[in-house]
Amino acid sequence: MNNFTFYSPTCFVFGKDSESQAGALVRRFGGSRVLIHFGGGSALRSGLIDRVEASLEAAGITSFRLGGVKPNPRSGLVYEGIELCRREKIDFILAVGGGSSIDSAKAIAAGTVYDGDFWDFYSGKPITEALPVGTVLTISAAGSEGSPDSVITLENGMYKRGASGDAIRPKFSILNPALTQTLPAFQTAAGITDIMAHLYERYLTNTKEVEVTDRMIEALLLTMIHEGPRVIADPNNYEARANIMWAGMMAHNNSCGVGRSQDWNSHNIEHELSALYDCAHGAGLAVTLPAVFTYVMNHDVMRFAQVAVRVWGCQMDFAHPEVTAKEGIEKLRQFFISIGMPRNFAELGAREEDIPVLVENLCRGDGRPGTISGFVTLNEDDCANIYRL
Ligand code: NZQ
Ligand code: ZN
Repeated sequence: MNNFTFYSPTCFVFGKDSESQAGALVRRFGGSRVLIHFGGGSALRSGLIDRVEASLEAAGITSFRLGGVKPNPRSGLVYEGIELCRREKIDFILAVGGGSSIDSAKAIAAGTVYDGDFWDFYSGKPITEALPVGTVLTISAAGSEGSPDSVITLENGMYKRGASGDAIRPKFSILNPALTQTLPAFQTAAGITDIMAHLYERYLTNTKEVEVTDRMIEALLLTMIHEGPRVIADPNNYEARANIMWAGMMAHNNSCGVGRSQDWNSHNIEHELSALYDCAHGAGLAVTLPAVFTYVMNHDVMRFAQVAVRVWGCQMDFAHPEVTAKEGIEKLRQFFISIGMPRNFAELGAREEDIPVLVENLCRGDGRPGTISGFVTLNEDDCANIYRL
């Protein structure tokens, strides 16, 4: 196991009606003028924004609204939010929604207290200072409610990049599983896929002797395989949604990723798809994960065989471990299909003739060196082959 520092100070408030505590939590973390930042309308339609606003008002907090965050959030609204925060002297940002609203809130939080262009953070500068952020989560997926990360699409070029820093870890996150019951089945499934991807990206490691985190990841994958189909069959199943919501947080706050190298090639390869075609991030991952795994499997066939046996219940073929490894990848692919995810480029709305653009954005965009690195290093030809797969 590698040396590590793990700092994860987010306060999680979990359960039914927990959004009614928003006002008290903002107060506890020092906010008095709050920007409520949300998406395209689901939180307005459900009455959630009104309830959150009422809770803030009851705590004597002044609030401002900025809605309109698109899935795969864009730089334009971030600039708008930064201006609003400076003008209104906002001291706390409360994101209400999914990964997109939370990531946009984090970008605004970092950009407001920074003299330069906020995009600097998405070109590699670590975030060391930001306005405090809280979240009310409405979809289990990205894990941004417990992560130090934010992913934004730059409209000038349409590529997606991530920024990171403990300063943007939420001060608190309100997790009420009942709020996810209004999700369309497709979004629920895309979220399940993203959570499983966060687990696999950590499972694919070159670090030896990481039994504790291996076993934690396997437990969370087994939970998703059990609860995913239950919630697709019965969207109002609170208990299944509760297990998925906490698994989604655990999958990405990095408690399962400490002390080990991680992959993230599948995420980077997917991000160019959701940037160019505006597809759901999870749907893009359902297509890219099996392709990447098939392509890189021989780098450590025993690792793929291990997850196949321990998580997917495959029989180990000791003479031919690659057979077991492939079987596990196929079971993962079939699982995604069974919950309603796309299986290929065509179903995702992607086009083969765009592969050169995708590869250029992925490997060269924003000063990248022509390769991406993780479990293995992939060059432009590798990435083109993976998109073709
Ligand atoms: O915008 P509204 O109207 O709210 O609709 C959203 C959106 O259309 C809808 N939705 C959310 N909660 C709902 C609901 N509809 C009905 N009822 C509810 N309760 O669902 C759609 C998707 O929302 P979004 O916030 O985009 O989903 P998600 O949480 O999957 O976030 C995706 C973004 O997160 C990034 C992705 O790249 C993508 O841009 N990621 C962020 C990470 C991080 N910060 O740590 C890590 C991830 O790997 C990921 O890359
Ligand atoms: Zn993800």
